[in-house]
This record gives sequence, structure tokens and C-alpha cells, in this order.
Amino acid sequence: MQNRIPFRFFSRTPSIRISVLLVVGLLLFASSGKAQQPHRYPIIPRPAKLTEKPGTFFITPNTKVYVKGGGPEIEKVADNFKTQLRETTGFSLQATSAPGKNAIAFIVDASIQEREGYRLSITNKNITLAFKTAPGAFLGVQTIRQLLPASPTGKKVPLPAVEIEDAPQFGYRGFMLDVARHFQPLDFLKRYVDLLAFYKVNTFHLHLTDDQGWRMEIKKYPKLQEISAWRKETRVGHRRDEQVLFDGKPHGGYYTQEQLKELVAYAQERFITIIPEIDMPGHSQAVLAAYPELGCKDTTYQVSTSWGVHKDVYCPNPATFQFLEDVLTEVIAIFPSKYIHIGGDEVPKDRWKESAYAQSLIKEHNLKDENGLQSYFMRRMEDFMISKGRSIIGWDEIMEGGVSKTATVMSWHMGQVGAAARGGNDEIMVANAHLYFDYYQTKEGRKREPVAIGNFLPLEKVYAFNPIPQDLDAAAAKRVLGVQANLWTEYVPTAAHAEQMTFPRLCALAEIAWAAPERKNYADFIQRLGQNLKHLDKLKVNYAKYYLEQLPTAPETKQPN
Ligand code: ACM
Repeated sequence: MQNRIPFRFFSRTPSIRISVLLVVGLLLFASSGKAQQPHRYPIIPRPAKLTEKPGTFFITPNTKVYVKGGGPEIEKVADNFKTQLRETTGFSLQATSAPGKNAIAFIVDASIQEREGYRLSITNKNITLAFKTAPGAFLGVQTIRQLLPASPTGKKVPLPAVEIEDAPQFGYRGFMLDVARHFQPLDFLKRYVDLLAFYKVNTFHLHLTDDQGWRMEIKKYPKLQEISAWRKETRVGHRRDEQVLFDGKPHGGYYTQEQLKELVAYAQERFITIIPEIDMPGHSQAVLAAYPELGCKDTTYQVSTSWGVHKDVYCPNPATFQFLEDVLTEVIAIFPSKYIHIGGDEVPKDRWKESAYAQSLIKEHNLKDENGLQSYFMRRMEDFMISKGRSIIGWDEIMEGGVSKTATVMSWHMGQVGAAARGGNDEIMVANAHLYFDYYQTKEGRKREPVAIGNFLPLEKVYAFNPIPQDLDAAAAKRVLGVQANLWTEYVPTAAHAEQMTFPRLCALAEIAWAAPERKNYADFIQRLGQNLKHLDKLKVNYAKYYLEQLPTAPETKQPN
């Protein structure tokens, strides 16, 4: 239920106010009867098919691990699982060459169709995890981890008996973190990789460049590190506040290429693809601060210290194209992903309208206007990427002046959701009203929460999103590769704050990315979530608890597990 208690009820001291709300939320939760019934299978995302079974398997120090076929990648998945079990239970499980009683068996099974599919059988006697590929094995392991107690004690660790047949509805299940507006250290990115993996989110999109900072070492352009990676201070409060205040503190940083290689390898071991984004032609003021010749005006620039859409963008001149090709050459040497994101969002055309060079290009190439020029720009960069064997993703604005059929579109405006797929392009849904995790989590917004960009995105609204719009025909629906949530960080300066904005909304994203609509049930999700979050407690993830005040009043119809 949404909060119907008048705001004046609450103390003006935020911590007391939040405590009161939490108690009210917990009471509502308890009175719905849900709190007393722990979910026997608190798995997020919900598996495609789960058959409840009576009984329990106990992992003990004598449990053995059996691995049949599959080669070193599967061995590695099993080894990593053993390491995790050692860390949580203290048991060092030994290998066995024969499956049997008290064993966990990893078995390649060619009858499984889906690349990321797996079958998990837990009985009183043993555990069998069957899969076609190493990613399938890894995903099955995450299910086992979620069934384990978050803080096991003693020499017998219980797992509920069950039969699961599982595979995702989408191959692309993504999360984007903006490390340009606020830089986060490499260890934080690795922690996010672990958390994404736990929820079967398989794509981590890094927004590496923006007006306020450039975050990737590019060897050919050292001023990106020296100048573009740093801003002298940061706007305080909301950018629309009347009072204009700055913190007076320099902010910045960048990842070296060695660090990024390390991150890619770390993610690969967890079957997560890192997609880098180099935003162009807009959101590029930090670059212009270092290389002003890439702008259209004969002037100097500074790395931006405030937020919003900036008018100083790359000029479509030869120096810019040379720079971007050089940058992308270094990017693809570090990131092996099929897709490289080249932005394309929010490009004011003011500078191009004023520029004789930009106007001459419009004439020379018979382009309709500045939107046509943006399409020319993006297409040129796409051709370069294709020549290197890669594909591009762009934000939905890349369609404004016409888009090539080979580009994948990330649709963030609600009005554009489905448009690319309908028009014949592959599409990834990032519908902002449902999937922008920089939005407030309570109706009271800034009165209760740290300042955020605006809007209201409670957990339930993330969960309610269906990535396939109802009016898409079957052919267009096939072009929907998947779904992603974005955390923009203008107003998210710290790691703890990023976690607060990400979780548990990421759990809802994970479920809509994995589970088909007929498997969705919000009341059931909430019940699983309550227990599942104990794992995040163990990991000291600073997840938000506002959802406890926003629980549904009437339980939804019971569905089979
Ligand atoms: C975006 O939100 N500018 C993609």
C-alpha cells in the first residue's frame, strides 16, 4: 500500500521519522500474514519452473563435489563454488570421481536447449546441477547460493529439496552505472559485478565519459587523464535550486587500462559482459577542456562542475573523428564485448547551427538538417566500429535523423519504448519511468531522502514494467534483446548512497529481465525478497528499506511455484 499517513505525523528528525515509518511498515507486513511465513524458496529472479519437494539436503564437511565433462570452464565454476562454500560454512569440500550419496554433481546435459539454462535437483540424498554451458552452470550455482542460509551455522547446512528447470526470458539483463559524474574505485565495481552475478544480471554497462569527467585512461591522449578526469568542484543541492552553491572540493579519477583489464577478467569469470560507453557527440565538455580544438568555437572550456544538458559538444570536424577513432581503438583493445556504447543522447544543436564548418558538412553530404548531421556522425562512428568487428548501441536519440538497421537502440524515453523494434532495429528497454534508479524511492522525495534528480520510482513500479510492449507483433518482440536499469550519479556521490539507490530495486529488475510475465507476482516477490535480503545484510549492502512501507495490501492470487 502507498503511504496514506499524513506527513505532519512524523518527526522532523529524519532518523526518527524513518524509524517510525519502518515500524509502521513492519507492522503492516506482519499483519498481512507474510512475515510469519518464510518462503521456502527465496530465489530472485523467480525460476521458470519450480516443483516443491518435501525433505532437506544437508551440506556437511563430508559432502563431495563431482564434476563430469565440460572442461576447465566448468571446473572453475565448481571450484569457485567450493571457495564460496568454504567462506560461508567453513567446510572444505573434496572432489569425488563417482556421484552418489552426499554429493553435489555438476553434469553437462546436451538435452538442455538454452545457453543459460540449467536444471537443479535437490533431494534428501544429493544435489544434481545439469546445464549445457558454463554460464548455465554458474547461474545454477547462484540459485543454490540463494537457497543456502545467509549465515550458516553448525556442521549441517540445510537446503530445501526441490526440482527446478530454469532459463531466462532475455539474453540481455543489464545494469548501468554512471562513473563519470561521480567516480568510484575499482573495488566498488568488482563488488557490483558480484552483486549483479548473484541476481543473474549478465551485463554491466559503464558510463565512462560525460561533461563532468572522463574515466578511462587513453594512452594516446594523456590530457584526458591530466585534465578531463578532474573537476575543480561540484554543485551542491539540486541544479534547479535558487541558491547556487558549490562544495569547493576537487573531484575526479580514472581507471587505468590495467585496472579495466582486471575488471573485464573479473567479470568474465562471473559470466558478466562489461559494455563501455564513450558518449558522443554530446556530453563531451570534459574532453573539450583538454582538447578545445574538438569543439566548434575558438574558445576554452572547463570540466563541468554542474549538471544538465550542455551546449558545448564535439564539432564534427576531422580532428574529432580522428580523436574518437583513436579512443575507440584503445577501448576495443580492453573491452572484448560485442557491443560498444557510443551514446548519442541529449545533443543540443546550437553550436552546429553557429558553425560554418558544420553547416558546410550538411551541404556537402546533402543532409536535411542538424539531426541529419548527428545521424551522419553516429553512422560514421558505427562504420568504424563495424570495420573493427564490433556493433554499436546508442540512446534512442540516434533515431532522430535516421538510423542504420545494424545499430542497437537503448530506449530511455517512455514515448520511444518499442519504436526501434517496431522499425526493425534491435532494442534494449531502459524506460526511464520504470528503470531510472536515480529517481526518489518515496513520494515525499527530498523531504525524506537525500537530494535526487526527481520523480518517484518505488520498487513496485520497477516490478510492474513489462519489457515487451503489448502492441509489438511477434517479429518486433524478437528484436527486444532485453532490459536494463540505469543509475546516473549526479546526486549519488558515495558508494553507500549508490547501494541505497540500487537495492532492492535491482532485485525487481533482475526478476523482470529473467522471468516471463506469467511468472511475475509482486506479493510472492516481496515474500522472497524479505529473506533474500539477508544475503545482502551479510555482505553489508546498504539497501533501501522504504519498500516495507509500500507493501501491497491484498495478497495477489497464489500461483504455483
Ligand atoms: C540519458 O538518460 N541521457 C540517456
